[in-house]
Amino acid sequence: MRNLVNILDLSTEEINGLVTLASDIMERPKVYADSCRGKILGSLFFEPSTRTRLSFTSAMMSLGGQVLGFDEAGSSSVTKGETVSDTVRMVSAYSDIIAMRHPKEGAPIVASEVATVPIINAGDGGHFHPTQTLTDLLTIHKKKGRFDNLVIGICGDLKYGRTVHSLIAAMSRYENVRFVLISPEELSLPDYVKDDHLFTGGCEYVETENLESAIPSLDILYMTRIQAERFESREQYERLKDSYVLNKSKLVMAKEDLSIMHPLPRVNEIDVDVDSDERAHYFDQAMYGRYIRMALILMLLGTEGIDDRRLDGKPRPGKSCHNPHCISRTERGIKKLFDEYGKCVYCDQYVE
Ligand code: CP
Repeated sequence: MRNLVNILDLSTEEINGLVTLASDIMERPKVYADSCRGKILGSLFFEPSTRTRLSFTSAMMSLGGQVLGFDEAGSSSVTKGETVSDTVRMVSAYSDIIAMRHPKEGAPIVASEVATVPIINAGDGGHFHPTQTLTDLLTIHKKKGRFDNLVIGICGDLKYGRTVHSLIAAMSRYENVRFVLISPEELSLPDYVKDDHLFTGGCEYVETENLESAIPSLDILYMTRIQAERFESREQYERLKDSYVLNKSKLVMAKEDLSIMHPLPRVNEIDVDVDSDERAHYFDQAMYGRYIRMALILMLLGTEGIDDRRLDGKPRPGKSCHNPHCISRTERGIKKLFDEYGKCVYCDQYVE
């Protein structure tokens, strides 16, 4: 049984296969219309969603399957104190594959430990969002025709932006990909993402607070929302929320073949006057989500398992994860585990 918790659970060859399959599904949808007849997707959304939840639902229905689940924690027995483990154990018995979104970082790892069906991480707190990255990769393939030799600007909330973390993990594996990381200092990329994906892969990057000066060099500009729901201080959010607003006048110096992407939802960070620019690809990007998720469901339901090594960490007596958003701080009955560098195995944050 295979899970998708982190985008790196997929090799680059598997990603190419998913992109090819999604493209074929787009061209020949009828061929796949009965591929999941009799299968059920468990759709467990403990946090709000429009695109991810509905595109998973659409994906399973388009494959001839059915969907059950909930779209807010408040309508599940979580309100009575049920753990993630117990919830997922139950839904495993009612479905063939589970897509789950949870506000706690590492929740899908806890789920994958007890599930008897494949678990797909549909977003865990400010940590990872691998199926958004698959959507992003399909978009990059369609619009740029390659994954290598790209300058990618990522702008906005790089601290809490889970789509950013997964996109960097994925794109840092390709040749000559350079990142321009554009954010206020307070919302810069976490060390664990830099260490695990940029330093380890020898990937070139620069950090800047200035969007306008970065734009001319970019092949892709990936805008992101400032994640209000992750801030511990309302005052800090109010101060930072409109740090970047992309509008038509800021695109005057941009490349003619720039791709403007955004995982959506947007708030103010892309003015609506950009929507009519042919370089604005964010609505196509959301549309591609249905087809890449169809491809992913087919792959996970048809693939044999590999060993899941994520929980190979060791307990460190007296230590617990300091990340207030980590699942290990709230889930009952799980061990607090850390890797050899002192990082929590659930949320990847350093303890010291
Ligand atoms: N991109 C994305 O995850 O959107 P939703 O929150 O609407 O699912």
